[in-house]
Amino acid sequence: MEQHAHDLVVIGAGPGGYQAAIRAAQLGMNVGVVEKDASLGGTCLNVGCIPSKALLESSEIYSEASHGVFAQHGVRTGTVELDLAAMLKRKEQVVKALTTGIAGLFKKHKITRYSGLGRFAGPTRVQVAAGDGVAFELTAKHVLIATGSKPASLPGVELDGDRVGTSTEALCYREVPGHLVVIGAGYIGLELGSVWRRLGAKVSVVEFLDRILPGMDSEMASEAQKVFAKQGLEFHLGRRVTGARSDGDGAVVEMEGAEPIRCDRVLVAVGRLPYTEGLALDAAGLATDARGRIPVDAHWQTSVPGVHAIGDVIAGPMLAHKAEEEGVAVAEWIGTGWSHVNYETIPGVCYTNPEFATVGKTEDALKAEGIPYRKGSFPFRANARARTLNQLEGRVKILAHEHTDRVLGIHIFGPRAGELIAEATLAMEVGASSEDIARTCHAHPTLPEVLREAALAVDGRPLNI
Ligand code: NAI
Repeated sequence: MEQHAHDLVVIGAGPGGYQAAIRAAQLGMNVGVVEKDASLGGTCLNVGCIPSKALLESSEIYSEASHGVFAQHGVRTGTVELDLAAMLKRKEQVVKALTTGIAGLFKKHKITRYSGLGRFAGPTRVQVAAGDGVAFELTAKHVLIATGSKPASLPGVELDGDRVGTSTEALCYREVPGHLVVIGAGYIGLELGSVWRRLGAKVSVVEFLDRILPGMDSEMASEAQKVFAKQGLEFHLGRRVTGARSDGDGAVVEMEGAEPIRCDRVLVAVGRLPYTEGLALDAAGLATDARGRIPVDAHWQTSVPGVHAIGDVIAGPMLAHKAEEEGVAVAEWIGTGWSHVNYETIPGVCYTNPEFATVGKTEDALKAEGIPYRKGSFPFRANARARTLNQLEGRVKILAHEHTDRVLGIHIFGPRAGELIAEATLAMEVGASSEDIARTCHAHPTLPEVLREAALAVDGRPLNI
C-alpha cells in the first residue's frame, strides 16, 4: 500500500470535484483526486447531462428529417432511416472526448488521480480500495466529498437493469421501445421521454403531481405540457406509481386509481439520492441527515474540521453547475478564506424542444411569499429570428419587484432557452432592473430580443406586439 500526502484530497471526479481540484491546484495546492469509475467526469459526463444532450440533438435531427421540417426549408431528402447504433456510437464519442479532456486537465494542473473507491480511515485519512485490497492511503490537510448522487427508485418498483431501469439504461436502449412508460415528469423523464418519442416510441409519462416539472413556474409549465402533448407525450398526471416490474416479454406499471399499463420498457425518473455508499463516513466522525445528505455550513465545511462536501451529496438543487460553483468556491475558501455562491441565481434548464429554462423566483413563489411584483411576457412568435428558425412556440416571462423594478425571476420556454437564460442569470447576478434589460441594446435579429421585449412589457411598453 502506497502512502501519499496532499493539501487537498477530493473524493469524486464529477463536475463539482474535478473543478474544485483544478481551482485548488491553481491556488498552489497539491491535490489528489480519488475516482472509482474508469472514466472521469461523474454522472454528468458519463451517464447524465452530456450523453442525454447528445441523444436529444440526434433525435431532434431525425425527427425533423422525418416530419418534413427539412422539406419546409426546401431541402429534399430520400427515405429517412434511423441508424440507432450509429446514434449511440456518436453519443459515446462525445462522452469520450470530454472525459479524456478532464484527464488532460489533471495532467496540466499536476493533479494526482487515484483509481479506486475512496473511503475514510480517519477525518483526514482516505484509503483507496482497488481490486481486493487498499492500494493507497492518503493523508490530507483537507478532504472534499464530491461523490454526487444515484437514481432514486420507489417501493414496489423492481429495477432489473433492463426492462425496468433508470436513466443509465435509457441512454443505451439498443432498439426503440414500442411503448415506454416514464415514471416522473421531471427533468429526466421529459428529456429522455422526448428522445424516445422522437425516435418513434409511444411514450406515457406517469406523474404523481397534477403538473409537470415541479419547481418550475407553474403557468409556464402548463403551457409547456400542452406543447409536449402535441409532440405525442401522453401524460397521466396525479397518478402515484405503486409498482413496476418486468413481466414476460414486457413490463407492467401499477398506479393508484387507474388500470396498470403494459409496456415494453419502464424508465424510473423520480429524482436522485445522495451517494455516500462505501465512504465509511463514520470513520471520519460524519453522519448523514434524514435524506441521506451530508450537512455543511455556509462554507461547505462539515461537522468535522478539514472535511468539506459539495454538489448533489449536500442540500440544494442537484445540478452540475451548482456543484461546479460550489467546487470552485470551496477551493477558494480553503486557499484564500474568501468565496461565495449566490444560490438565488442558479439557473435550471430542461432540454426539451422547446427548451425550458428558469432563474430566480417563480410567480408561484412570489405569491406564496407575498412579494409585490410586476410581470412582463413576450412570445417567440412575434420575434423575427424565431420566425426565420420556424420555432414559434413559447415565451419569456420576467418578474420584477413592484417598487424597485429589480428582476426577481426570469422563465423562458422557447427555442434555445438554455442559452438565453445566461443573459437572464447575468442580469440577476448584477441586480439588474427590468428597465436595465429593456435599455440594453440587443442585436437584431436575435432570440434575446424576446428578453428585451418581455422587459419592456413589465412596464407595459413592448414594441413588436
Ligand atoms: P425530478 O425531481 O426532476 O422529477 C421527479 C418526478 O417524479 C417529480 O415530478 C415527482 O413528482 C415524480 N414522482 C415521484 N414519485 C412518484 C411516483 N410514485 N409516481 C409518479 N411520479 C412520481 O427528478 P429526475 O427527473 O429524476 O431528475 C433527477 C435529478 O437530476 C434532478 O434533481 C434534476 O435536477 C437532475 N437533472 C438535471 C437535468 C438538467 O439540468 N437538464 C437533466 C436531468 C436530471
